[in-house]
Amino acid sequence: MKAIILNQYGGPEVLEWQETAKPLPQAEEVLIKTTAIGINYASVLIRQGKYRAFYPLPAKMPAEIEGVIEAVGANVKHLTAGQRVTGIAGNGYAAFVVINAKDVFLIPPGLPPTQGLLSQGLTARYLLEQAKDYQSVIITAAASGVGSFAVQLARLKGGKNIIALAGNKEKVIYAKSLGATYACSYFDADWQEQIAKATNHTGADLILDAIGGDTGTTLAAMIAPGGTMVAYGNMSEKSMTIDGNTLALKANRITGASIYHATPENKQQWWHEMVTWIQEGKLKSEAAVFPYTAVAAAFRSIESRNATGRVVLTL
Ligand SMILES: NC(=O)c1ccc[n+]([C@@H]2O[C@H](COP(=O)([O-])OP(=O)(O)OC[C@H]3O[C@@H](n4cnc5c(N)ncnc54)[C@H](OP(=O)(O)O)[C@@H]3O)[C@@H](O)[C@H]2O)c1
Repeated sequence: MKAIILNQYGGPEVLEWQETAKPLPQAEEVLIKTTAIGINYASVLIRQGKYRAFYPLPAKMPAEIEGVIEAVGANVKHLTAGQRVTGIAGNGYAAFVVINAKDVFLIPPGLPPTQGLLSQGLTARYLLEQAKDYQSVIITAAASGVGSFAVQLARLKGGKNIIALAGNKEKVIYAKSLGATYACSYFDADWQEQIAKATNHTGADLILDAIGGDTGTTLAAMIAPGGTMVAYGNMSEKSMTIDGNTLALKANRITGASIYHATPENKQQWWHEMVTWIQEGKLKSEAAVFPYTAVAAAFRSIESRNATGRVVLTL
């Protein structure tokens, strides 16, 4: 079967499909024929050799996949061949993958192709769970995979003032189309003033930040009294500076959060809730779709900051 084995770290050009052995499902696993792969930013970092968990070469890269069950392990009773499923596979950039049966999501009949790839939505939901009773939310990288779900889920969960920050003008427009009440670009010279004004100069109850560095530092000073900032990525690759006195006086909380800490039960519940919202037309799960042979181009669309929403490969 074809799969990507990372033989060297580097740019998108190091991603090459090779012939390798098809996996066999263990007793608790299912074998899935892959029909689509969702590219998360973690794949970029692994490929660059920068991911927080080290992947020694030659490396198989984990990925979220959608596909059809080909075979089930001896102990798997609740799933059967032919069912459409999605989940995260340890060797995800592959024509066939194995996943533990308890970690797959069963796609309901009628859900269009690639719509089950919702790991970025699960992350967004987990991040929003880090605070209770928020009215105002600031979301950075708001047109990214995670960010585009965060904007919509914040709205669906009752957020009143959803403020989006994104790179270029198209992304700002996109974030508004997803339900942001205010959106601007951090390339605007006056973005700090725009954001402060959008919060009525009181700050936001919740800030979801994937950028860190100077952007994160500026936003940390915009947490409302009693509010929370969740750092969930560090796209700037730079540290934030936090003023302890300001945090103390405003009783602010700055926390990190990773979807890896969410329980399997919560993930199943949130995944099914999102699928229901997609079917009801309340949640958009748009994707730029590339054939698997154009894997380098798909990665370039992410790294050039041109992509909006999810980026997906089809097989
Ligand atoms: N904690 C968790 O559980 C978790 C889970 C998944 C992902 N993440 C993190 O969340 C972030 C977004 O992930 P994703 O999968 O949603 O990513 P994605 O869809 O590939 O989008 C990444 C976004 O980051 C922004 N960005 C800012 N600086 C950038 C740079 N120098 N190069 C490229 N993009 C840059 C871009 O938006 P703008 O141009 O609009 O700024 C881009 O759209 C990443 O930092 C990722 O590591 C965390």
